[in-house]
Amino acid sequence: MQKHIDRPPVSKIEFLRKKLHKHNYLYYIKDDPEISDSEYDRMMKELIELEKSYPDLSRPDSPSMRVGAPPLSAFATTEHTIPMLSLDNGFDDSDVLAFDKKIKKNLDTSDEILYTAEPKLDGLAVELVYENGRLTRASTRGDGTRGELITENIRTIRSVPLILHSSDESSDEIKTPALLEVRGEVFMGHAGFKKLNRNQLANHLNIFANPRNAAAGSLRQLDSKITAQRPLEIFVYGIGRTTNILAESHWEYLCILKKLGFRINSLIKSGLTIKAVIEYYRELSEKRDSLPYDIDGVVVKVDSLKLQQSLGATSRSPRWAIAYKFAAVQETTKIINIEVQVGRTGVLTPVAILAPVNIAGVNVTRATLHNEDEIKRKNIKIGDTVLIQRAGDVIPEIVKVINSRRTGDEKFFPMPANCPVCGAEVVREKDEAAVRCVNTDCPAQVKERIKHFASKAAFDIEGLGDKLVEQLVEKGICNSCADIFYLNIEQLKALDRMGAVSAENILKAIDKSKKISFFRFIYGLGIRH
Ligand code: IVH
Repeated sequence: MQKHIDRPPVSKIEFLRKKLHKHNYLYYIKDDPEISDSEYDRMMKELIELEKSYPDLSRPDSPSMRVGAPPLSAFATTEHTIPMLSLDNGFDDSDVLAFDKKIKKNLDTSDEILYTAEPKLDGLAVELVYENGRLTRASTRGDGTRGELITENIRTIRSVPLILHSSDESSDEIKTPALLEVRGEVFMGHAGFKKLNRNQLANHLNIFANPRNAAAGSLRQLDSKITAQRPLEIFVYGIGRTTNILAESHWEYLCILKKLGFRINSLIKSGLTIKAVIEYYRELSEKRDSLPYDIDGVVVKVDSLKLQQSLGATSRSPRWAIAYKFAAVQETTKIINIEVQVGRTGVLTPVAILAPVNIAGVNVTRATLHNEDEIKRKNIKIGDTVLIQRAGDVIPEIVKVINSRRTGDEKFFPMPANCPVCGAEVVREKDEAAVRCVNTDCPAQVKERIKHFASKAAFDIEGLGDKLVEQLVEKGICNSCADIFYLNIEQLKALDRMGAVSAENILKAIDKSKKISFFRFIYGLGIRH
């Protein structure tokens, strides 16, 4: 008699796979999970164990494949049946208006053209091939005609459906196409990127310069088990070859893809005139810094598929689309010198003095180097050519040194053993990256303490700005925050660029600041820790 336990648990495996596919879809595509992460993990564990015991029953599109497959020795390449083209770039409104004008000319019409506008995701283009509803192949864009086969790596990305949604249990709407080639962008979000770099650092590995590089490095791993550990995501934005998917517009395509279980970016808008496209670009530029992933522009696409066909493409790019680029947030420049600033609590902060460079409309001349460890970690020297990054209102930072630009003339920067302002000894406390000037009467510290004391969130003394505080300390009039309340009109009037009226106003503001909430008062004292 055969023992019950030897019978392959086909239906149990099938049951688990179906459930896991469904919950994956609910979590990643619908953003509406129905079970807890731990419940999902338990089911996954059970499935993996069953597949291990019954290797004959394992399948490439099983949800368990998301943990990676045996490593490859090299990537095979594959031809894209329809080339994966590039996009023409536009850099200002006039480029986009010219694009619209050219389209009307090409189509010989004066009718308004309607566009879809999408965030231009800063990742890597990929093509996913589904045969009878199952993911069978995935490749990088490569040179546009030939890409690398990265199927195993793509399978590890949770937001990639391994089986099309309509071919799953709730197949109500769309018939599973025999063939479907889907195109999209694989990227890494900011949270995942930060976590990955923290991990790399902890394991003494190189950190990635930006999420795009991290995504590229992760996607091109020969060992998909490594890719499986990387927080990659996908948004899809187009279709290559397909059978029986009928649509009249690009927007309809996107809606169908969404129904089939693909992740579509929620900021995409359709039915826009060229004027509305420009408006969309403005709105998205403002949102850019608050998005959880990098975008580098807006992709504008003629919505009607019929018009797209009439317009066609050059060998490089379609005539029906343009990338309206945002200003870059990273630029390269040279470190001319490194200076040391002394802060309110005596912390010495090294600051790179840069050859001026314009980043997204702002002239950048300085970047913080944070502390000694950061300089060591990034191996920064005076004279280095570096990659600088600016985001929103934050202080520009050095991403990395461009080592290939080293000449050998670069100079090592030693942190000073004495405070560059007062000459006092500096100490580095245990478990701290910061070096401090121990002299609490150090003029640099006094200045910064008074600036903080007078600032908006503290005593809010109008007119007592940074320049004025610096003069008061340098002339020996103020040596502490309390000295502010002893200032008189004669002392103020004697300062550079100070008239009688301004001096009066400052005294009034000082007087007004004496009435203060306890919270602001405590904050203004700037007590350490
Ligand atoms: S459509 C023929 N849509 O931009 C049209 N591309 O410069 C091809 N990209 O290789 C692409 N977001 O990697 C399209 N919403 C989007 C996109 C997008 C990012 C990338 C893609 C492509 C590159 C072209």
